[in-house]
Amino acid sequence: DWTPGNVIADQIALIREQVGDSRVICGLSGGVDSSVAAALVQQAVGDQLTCVFVDHGLLRAGEVEQVERDFVAATGVKLVVMDEKQRFLAALAGHSDPETKRKIIGREFIRAFEQAARDIVADAGDHGGEVKFLVQGTLYPDVVESGGGEGTANIKSHHNVGGLPDDLQFSLVEPLRALFKDEVRAVGRELGVPEVIVARQPFPGPGLGIRIVGEVTAERLEILRAADAIAREELTKAGLDDEIWQCPVVLLADVRSVGVQGDGRTYGHPIVLRPVSSEDAMTADWTRLPYDVLAIISTRITNEVKDVNRVVLDVTSKPPGTIEWE
Ligand code: XMP
Repeated sequence: DWTPGNVIADQIALIREQVGDSRVICGLSGGVDSSVAAALVQQAVGDQLTCVFVDHGLLRAGEVEQVERDFVAATGVKLVVMDEKQRFLAALAGHSDPETKRKIIGREFIRAFEQAARDIVADAGDHGGEVKFLVQGTLYPDVVESGGGEGTANIKSHHNVGGLPDDLQFSLVEPLRALFKDEVRAVGRELGVPEVIVARQPFPGPGLGIRIVGEVTAERLEILRAADAIAREELTKAGLDDEIWQCPVVLLADVRSVGVQGDGRTYGHPIVLRPVSSEDAMTADWTRLPYDVLAIISTRITNEVKDVNRVVLDVTSKPPGTIEWE
């Protein structure tokens, strides 16, 4: 019988068998999947687990604070926060191909986890040995879309599946690999993960890095972060969070169009709103948002965000579009 309780009991037994008394780290992103995976592993092996939050600079406003406030407060898990903004920006410089960007981000995540593992061992002295295992919140759809399922094509390399480097030194612990998002949420609730985390809309591990179409730079990230914060604020204010699966906000960084502001000509970038409705992210439909809400978001973004002079709405279902633009 599929119940969250049975999944938890089975996975705890499997995790204990796999990990033994070794040290384990878990990459925590603040999202549903990694939080539930971490809570599960914590139940299985307690203090052998350290969570690692990699601040790659591709985050939305307020993410690190939210992890500390909500997840750590609820679970008491050990957390290490790594500031890796410069490492990721430097690695991404000069690259605009989507799969290349995804692979770079996947690789740099692992390099950061390796550094965290060395730090943990050094801090502990001789006690406890190497960190041999890395926990990831990989879901079934991530595996399928990265070409990991039988007879499936590689649509895009999810950062924690197809984006992993070949010389990976950790064994992976992926207790959610057979589950869909709604099942993960049920497991998370059963484990007592706070509702503010369990109910969160999905946000991809590569973050804003795959929502800037073109090269990722600090300045472009700042533009996108500002536009994204406005869209999220207005969607929440309008009470639409439950209706929407997620709403990527995308910066077309290599496109400019002519506009007018005051008596002057502008030549700025478009922002794309991509609200979708979905059951499991394998397919999706574009959400028919109220025009009034779209109007407020558009007005605010073009008024408040520098270098953006146009807001457009993506009205493509999946397929043929994917949810993210890259
Ligand atoms: P696509 O764009 O493939 O997205 O339709 C399907 C779902 O997966 C999320 N997504 C990712 N999540 N790492 C993640 O953790 C990734 O590399 C990644 N790529 C896409 C996307 O936000 C959507 O919910």
